[in-house]
Amino acid sequence: MSKLKIAIQKKGRLYEESIQLLKESGLNFKEGNNQLKIVVENFALEILLLRNADIPEYVEDGIVDLGIVGENILIEQQVDYDVLRKLGFASCRLSLAIPKAENYNDISALTQKRIATSYPNTLRAYLTKNNIQAEIHTLSGSVEIAPNIGLADAVCDLVSSGTTLFNNGLREVETILNSEAVLIKSQKINSVKQKSIDKLVFRMDAVLRPKK
Ligand code: PRP
Ligand code: MG
Repeated sequence: MSKLKIAIQKKGRLYEESIQLLKESGLNFKEGNNQLKIVVENFALEILLLRNADIPEYVEDGIVDLGIVGENILIEQQVDYDVLRKLGFASCRLSLAIPKAENYNDISALTQKRIATSYPNTLRAYLTKNNIQAEIHTLSGSVEIAPNIGLADAVCDLVSSGTTLFNNGLREVETILNSEAVLIKSQKINSVKQKSIDKLVFRMDAVLRPKK
């Protein structure tokens, strides 16, 4: 039988706690050495370390069976998957922010402005819902630098502690959505794998339940 595969974020805000959840669930494995695949010693499971934004598609295609990702990525990418559990970590929000000296009464202040983001689909939907015409500039990272280098008038990015906004002289003006880490499952799962997933989720529940 082929092993179950779970994809987690290779580095970044979800990595540490994803590893911790898997370990607390009783899985024995060694991490480190920049490896992209971790073999679990006491469960027929492989942990694949991927870029956050790549995980939903792998889950949709059934390349991996399970994934731990932020809801923010799932909302941005229109792919098919099932959410099994909310995991209660990596809480953050997707927000709009502007240079702190700029005036702001309401969202109409963003009309005809250039907004830098790594979440163009989510932002577009939000602007449309609020009847705002603005220009979206897609960047894959370091979004908060955009106003300082004259690339944009505003940003739409994740806020966790708020440090990145603060350090770049920006202030949050609208929250678009709240996000946390979730466990997702592919819709291409056979019954043998499903049994194995049930076992794994049962173990995770024992870790997640007391935290709720
Ligand atoms: C993330 C996110 C924000 C920042 C928010 O960036 O895109 O920029 O963290 O966290 P904070 O509110 O606690 O400062 P990341 O550091 O992952 O880098 P990237 O955007 O360049 O990928
Ligand atoms: Mg960032």
